[in-house]
Amino acid sequence: MAGTLKRLLFGAAALGVVAIAAPCVPRDESRTFEAENAVLTGTNVDTAQAGYTGVDPFFQCSLTHPSIQLHLRSDTDSRISGTGYVTGFDQSTDKITFTVSSATTKLYDLSIRYAAIYGDKKTTVILNNGAASEVSFTAGTSFTTVPAGQLLLNAGNNTIDIVSNWGWYLIDSITLTPSSPRPEHQITDLPINPAADSPARQLYFYLRSSIYGRFILSGQQDLSWANWVTQTIGKTPALLSVDLMDYSPSRVERGTVGTSIEDAIAHHQRGGIVSVLWHWNAPTGLYDTAENPWWSGFYTRATDFDVAAALSSTSNANYTLLVRDIDAIAVQLKRLQDAGVPVLFRPLHEAEGGWFWWGAKGPEPAKKLWGLLYDRLTNYHKINNLLWVWNSIAPEWYPGDETVDILSADVYAQGNGPMSTQYNQLIELGKDKKMIAAAEVGAAPLPDLLQAYEAHWLWFAVWGDTFINNPDWNSLETLRKVYNSDYVLTLDEIQGWMDLD
Ligand SMILES: *[C@@H]1O[C@H](CO)[C@@H](O)[C@H](O)[C@H]1NC(C)=O
Ligand SMILES: *[C@@H]1O[C@H](CO)[C@@H](O)[C@H](O)[C@H]1NC(C)=O
Repeated sequence: MAGTLKRLLFGAAALGVVAIAAPCVPRDESRTFEAENAVLTGTNVDTAQAGYTGVDPFFQCSLTHPSIQLHLRSDTDSRISGTGYVTGFDQSTDKITFTVSSATTKLYDLSIRYAAIYGDKKTTVILNNGAASEVSFTAGTSFTTVPAGQLLLNAGNNTIDIVSNWGWYLIDSITLTPSSPRPEHQITDLPINPAADSPARQLYFYLRSSIYGRFILSGQQDLSWANWVTQTIGKTPALLSVDLMDYSPSRVERGTVGTSIEDAIAHHQRGGIVSVLWHWNAPTGLYDTAENPWWSGFYTRATDFDVAAALSSTSNANYTLLVRDIDAIAVQLKRLQDAGVPVLFRPLHEAEGGWFWWGAKGPEPAKKLWGLLYDRLTNYHKINNLLWVWNSIAPEWYPGDETVDILSADVYAQGNGPMSTQYNQLIELGKDKKMIAAAEVGAAPLPDLLQAYEAHWLWFAVWGDTFINNPDWNSLETLRKVYNSDYVLTLDEIQGWMDLD
């Protein structure tokens, strides 16, 4: 088919058709690679499912405007040469390997043309035998195209593997288009709380005007692990994240004594920035068994506390317990407010995961509880040193722009990658009006990749034991690279941020 089309086009040109202004928008720089022309491992070419010859819109348009054939380059001829698709992904090692070249080190948007005729599926995309990412295919009866994230190609040849994962799908082709530079962020001027105190405003101003899009703040969960970083790497994280867990009333009544407020104040006093999360032990209904002891009571599996039922009426005894717990936490946050410590406050984290009781009954109760927290702490307790950090990505979980200052995600993926998929999802969620943070990570992101992908995370905070000190997640060499980068700010480099104006 390709040959005939090309002959027709060249024929028209030979007949001297006068060139007209190009009415088709050429995607000059995008390149499509047919799966059947790639290297197949455990997979095979088939033609039974119709539609694999789907043509590029520019090519389709050019058929009626023969002069445009001049734009067709040899490496894009594959647009018209589809002779089948690849199938047979039934073993975990089955794959297609594309070799693609790039003139320079450059970021590309990847899309995949597929048919998931056997139901919803997933594939794994691997670049140059290294970074892997997962792409979901939606069930359907015909071929369709899905955006599949970004790839930073090296100058020269690169390999892109499409590997089985769930398998049982059909791949027609992949397309690479150079990524457009990220447009300028449109971050809201002020914190959402009109009564935000001066330290909170100062923190917001500093983050917005000096950090976001320019640098990333290094961060660490727990003071003991921040100290470990200082001792091991020779640099101290700019941001310390602490947990209000042990101030939860259902733990305190079993003997816990929280110390994280002291840690937060100490970090503030040495010129650092403080973030606070809360593993909120369920107010009641803890199973307290050998498998699910009381101290794991923030997990859905460890309690029968029903957040939807508790929030269903304000006269409910369990609603009263939620308020009791919020009031107990208010006492601690007040200590930080009194000490002049502005706080990046991240309650109800990972709600969309469902593994914590506040997310166990779906988005509606989680959003309602967020509203209750915001109202009780801000309007009743007058706690005004907080910037409110939301921590789920899915739009149906989002409580809304009015009660959220900063968006964030917790990302546990090895490889020290830029987490650009999650970053781009959060840009969508907040319409680029909210700053975006990597509130918990397993692996500290490499600054070169952050900059190449323009993944402008405001901070990263590595989780403590088994992550920061685990070479599978963070080698010492990588940590040194991260902590010594000009793009990554450490405690010594942010001194005086509260005095800026
Ligand atoms: C890139 O790969 C192509 C074949 O896929 C090969 O012809 C070419 O020599 C390679 N270029 C380099 C720089 O390795
Ligand atoms: C409160 O929650 C506990 C634990 O789930 C449950 O046993 C109790 O019935 C609830 N109380 C009310 C009044 O719903």
